[in-house]
Amino acid sequence: MADAATAEIPADEAEEMTVVRTKDVTKVYRMGKVEVHALKGITLDIRLGEYISIMGPSGSGKTTLFNMIGALDKPTEGQVYIDEVDVAQLDAYELAWLRCRKIGYIFQTFNLIPVMSALENVTLPMTFAGLTTDEARDKGMDLLDQVGLAERYDHKPYELSGGQQQRVAIARAMANSPAIILADEPTGNLDLATGKEIIQLLGEMNRNGNVTIITATHDIKMLSASDRIVWVRDGRLAKIELREDLDIQIGSIEGDAEGGIEASLRGAGDAGESDKSDEDEGE
Ligand SMILES: Nc1ncnc2c1ncn2[C@@H]1O[C@H](COP(=O)(O)OP(=O)(O)OP(=O)(O)O)[C@@H](O)[C@H]1O
Ligand SMILES: [Mg+2]
Repeated sequence: MADAATAEIPADEAEEMTVVRTKDVTKVYRMGKVEVHALKGITLDIRLGEYISIMGPSGSGKTTLFNMIGALDKPTEGQVYIDEVDVAQLDAYELAWLRCRKIGYIFQTFNLIPVMSALENVTLPMTFAGLTTDEARDKGMDLLDQVGLAERYDHKPYELSGGQQQRVAIARAMANSPAIILADEPTGNLDLATGKEIIQLLGEMNRNGNVTIITATHDIKMLSASDRIVWVRDGRLAKIELREDLDIQIGSIEGDAEGGIEASLRGAGDAGESDKSDEDEGE
């Protein structure tokens, strides 16, 4: 698999490159006689350097889609391509490489290793990637500095606030300079102000490092940071919106966040269930 050393690619060329492509991805979970159709045919292209938010109600399939894009689980049908390589064709070694070097993962519950310090959590993936202890330490400290936690490098996760733990998780996700960061509800366990800081930090990683960010979220604060918003409803793509198109709507929901997002979600669902959604949107 080609290693997209993203920093070396001119921005205008990078914009043209598709880093993730899903084609007719379906996922059926089978539990005894019960089948859950979590994804019902998702076709989506994500370009290098984009900031994508996947939005949708609970149970709509966001995490499932994530696990497919992150090569953590296999689709029932359809294909996932990373850098135009079909993930299903990779052997165990190549898959491990992809998960370690190409993609950085961030989870709602931070998932730091409790007995390890902030620095050790950040350098662990570097050790897997073959860096020496000294190299890993230098790079780890640099990353902790970037997320504003250099002084807390020796603290264990329980000695850090939720927002600080998520910062460590972001530094860890960046450990091996991934082309893609997958973040599943990264602000889900944080208060408003801390959530904003995390979104800002992800935005910086996106702009400065040309890292492609893909987040699943319920958080409307994410909307303004995103290049595109992918609305998922009942396992299907309901609609894809550009930030430019959303600017006006964001203004109108700010005063009534909960009601606004509910309205948006209803709108997305309606579009997904209607075959003539494109015509409707044009009106
Ligand atoms: N391992 C599993 N086994 C069986 N069903 C599952 C499994 N994982 C998810 N599901 C089901 O698949 C559907 C989609 O779940 P998913 O976790 O992708 O939703 P989500 O959009 O991430 O929701 P949330 O916003 O609550 O995180 C749900 O109906 C869920 O119950
Ligand atoms: Mg989820």
